[in-house]
Amino acid sequence: MIKVKDVAFPRFRAPDLDKMESYLEDFGMVRSARTEDKLFMRGLDASHHIHVTELGESKFIGAAYWADSLEDLEKLASSNDASDVEDINEPGGGQRVCLTDPDGFQIEVVYGIEEIDPLPATESTGYNWVNDRRRLGDLKRVGKGPSPVKRFAHYVIGVTDYEKTQAFYADHLGLIPSDTIHDNDDESRNVMTFNRVDQGDEFVDHHTFAAIECSIFGSDEAMFHHVAFEVEDLDTLVAGHEYLMSKDYEHAYGIGRHILGSQIFDYWQDPFGFRHEHWTDSDLLNASSPTGHHPVSTALSVQWGPTIPRKVG
Ligand SMILES: [Fe+2]
Repeated sequence: MIKVKDVAFPRFRAPDLDKMESYLEDFGMVRSARTEDKLFMRGLDASHHIHVTELGESKFIGAAYWADSLEDLEKLASSNDASDVEDINEPGGGQRVCLTDPDGFQIEVVYGIEEIDPLPATESTGYNWVNDRRRLGDLKRVGKGPSPVKRFAHYVIGVTDYEKTQAFYADHLGLIPSDTIHDNDDESRNVMTFNRVDQGDEFVDHHTFAAIECSIFGSDEAMFHHVAFEVEDLDTLVAGHEYLMSKDYEHAYGIGRHILGSQIFDYWQDPFGFRHEHWTDSDLLNASSPTGHHPVSTALSVQWGPTIPRKVG
């Protein structure tokens, strides 16, 4: 139907907005707005919010994607399974079209949400690479505290019908495969795909959305896996790790460097059990980049860092 520009924000439900706000502040976000029953958190970029929590029983509701234009929203709304274009009655305003994916996760495609002034990033003195020394005369001093989050970047869910889900996201949002993942014992049976947005020649993150057949996790039910946010660099990622450790949050997995996507990653559990990832330094691909094909073992392995714990993968 259309080609979305990027992901915009995940939408959760949680029983304690104060607790969620404290966690997200410690994770590196800043409050953008708060109503009686909703919390909106922002990152460094100009997006009004990159994380939404509604008051209620803990649940991952779904995710929002940016449309390129109002015309694209209208085009999407002409699909039989989409809502009309509706005004968003939330801080930041804007318009959206809602869809429900094959497992009942809500997809919002949004346009025109208010932009706000970006926040200043950490002043980086750069790195002295062995063959490219750039930090000349500047001392490296990494501050302590949360790792400032730049933007929402991707999310992963477990799904009951992998093929149907892949087709749904490709058909409605124009997502394209960066790497397809096959069963370790059967190269012809795909169980997961890392998808990216299609922005033509423009380079975008290796993955924006990944669907994994839930049987890989030993489950027959659809499930939330994680949401991921880009941070400034390796130094702030590690400083943020130490800060979250000092606050006694539950660490999930990391620090390491993935193989597929190549991000340096660090996963944390929020107080309600939702996994949030910090990452930096992703591979960037454009629409001409070829699609890879790998076993599950590669998708779950690292270039460096600890082995993935059972509770994560
Ligand atoms: Fe991730």
